[in-house]
Amino acid sequence: MRDRLMVALDMPNKHQALEMRDTLADSVAWLKVGLRLFVAEGPELVMELLKSHKIFLDLKFHDIPNTVAQAVASAGDLGVQMLNVHASGGSQMLSAAAEAARAFPQMKLIAVTVLTSQDLPAEQTQKVVVGYASQVKESGLDGVVSSVHEVAGIKDACGDDFITVTPGIRWGGQDAQDQKRVADPTMAVRAGADYLVIGRPILQAPDPHAAAMQAQAMMRQA
Ligand code: C5P
Repeated sequence: MRDRLMVALDMPNKHQALEMRDTLADSVAWLKVGLRLFVAEGPELVMELLKSHKIFLDLKFHDIPNTVAQAVASAGDLGVQMLNVHASGGSQMLSAAAEAARAFPQMKLIAVTVLTSQDLPAEQTQKVVVGYASQVKESGLDGVVSSVHEVAGIKDACGDDFITVTPGIRWGGQDAQDQKRVADPTMAVRAGADYLVIGRPILQAPDPHAAAMQAQAMMRQA
């Protein structure tokens, strides 16, 4: 389960990011670097984190095909193991991104479907997410980001090997904050999610290492 938990390192600066990395130590294999930390500290910190962890670079590219393809190649050069774009960028953009990613076999390229902070009627969300997932697969990417609630439908449509990464993880009465489509770690693994992204429930816990271990214990219960 250690390999399926990704901690979102949404910290303001390098000092706090490295401190959290050391606190979590080997309780997690993956760290996710998102907009906050990347804008503040850039590629240098990503390379530092790559010395100890696998990195999911969560920058959610969404631009014209040529620009996205170039950015994908720059991320590939950094050596990250996972990267994402927005599925709503369209098939030309997705195909260009997939083509650029082919030069970096160590890097999985996935696409965000509908953000877990968005709350459409469940049936509509399911339809839109599975529609995006099919288009993402046809365009040659490795998987998608979705909520836990759409994972079964995605696996049905795209197959078990198509990767699903699920944020919006909360447990034990934790505040959902800005997340809307939430589920706990046991539900996520039961639904078939390949990777669980957890940020604030670990980062803001009194003991982040213990919170990461607790999340993994709940994953194992599945
Ligand atoms: O703190 P929390 O557990 O809500 O963090 C979730 C993380 O996953 C954040 O870094 C957020 O940017 C990211 N994310 C998300 N929904 C997506 C894609 C990424 O919440 N669809």
